[in-house]
Amino acid sequence: MNSTPPQSSASLPETDSASATTDPARTALLDALNELLEAERAGARVAMETGRSITDPELAALADDIHKDEVRWCSMLMRTIKSLGATPSSATGAFHGKAMAIADLDERLKFLNRGQAWVTRKLQALIPQVDDARARADLTDMLQAHHQNISRVEDRFTAPATLEPQTEPQAEASPVPTEPGALIEFILTRFHEVHRQQLPELIQLAAKVEAVHADHAETPRGLTDLLTSMHSELLAHMEKEETILFPMLARGGSSFVTHPICVMMSEHEEHAQRLAQLMALTHQATPPGDACRTWVQLCTATRQFAEDLKAHIQLENRVLFPQFDKSLVQERPEAAR
Ligand SMILES: [Fe+2]
Ligand SMILES: [Fe+2]
Repeated sequence: MNSTPPQSSASLPETDSASATTDPARTALLDALNELLEAERAGARVAMETGRSITDPELAALADDIHKDEVRWCSMLMRTIKSLGATPSSATGAFHGKAMAIADLDERLKFLNRGQAWVTRKLQALIPQVDDARARADLTDMLQAHHQNISRVEDRFTAPATLEPQTEPQAEASPVPTEPGALIEFILTRFHEVHRQQLPELIQLAAKVEAVHADHAETPRGLTDLLTSMHSELLAHMEKEETILFPMLARGGSSFVTHPICVMMSEHEEHAQRLAQLMALTHQATPPGDACRTWVQLCTATRQFAEDLKAHIQLENRVLFPQFDKSLVQERPEAAR
């Protein structure tokens, strides 16, 4: 969904051998994966932001499905890039700006579909060049899912208006998994990747509101600084979960997991305190009567972020961690926030 090259090529750790850093095939593969990652991140943001504005429940559900899929592929691409010993790009593809400039929501979704078609072409060219079996299988899954989503959007916009309403029962929303491996995957895609998108956007909106409305009595002064601190704290927290705790839990856990779980729960309490500060500073994410569009957008995004972070913490405190530290089942149910 971004025809420009990735903004940051895969960077390699210092421990990489000279041959790895100069291998042109590896560099080309990492560039292609990062380009796809930035495109998927852009697609995820477009689907999420567009979905919030759609009033038709069926179309909103479709946008939500696309968002979840795009987030899932971001996570897979990041994992694949890391498995190659490189650092995934943190940039968002230029497609996001181009798509969000389209005011008409139907036209924007059609544009999103053209972006998805671009991704399928890139994947078709890339997959035969990938030697690793797991990466090839993941990229093939990604290609198939994109084909399905493209068809769903095409069906939505080409169906004649006189068609009978669909009588098949709608697929129920998938329940949140409880099995540790699947639950961790769900947390990574539904929350970690989403927070990584939400916070830079929130910081940008807050900085704009603080600068433009410096003289307004209700301006949330200090919000940009607070969000910037929350961003770095959450990134560090999620990195610890992704690199230390979750791999231990995915392998079945051990007696050593209770300490990192305790550290993570203590950090969750700090996140909850930060959330309370955030809500107080933004008057419970409520814009003033004379708020401009950006201020309203800031409050909507703040509310969504707060709900997501609370749900994220609850899921880890109440569902994931107690499976590995039985004392949490009885002794600390109140720790969940
Ligand atoms: Fe987490
Ligand atoms: Fe956490």
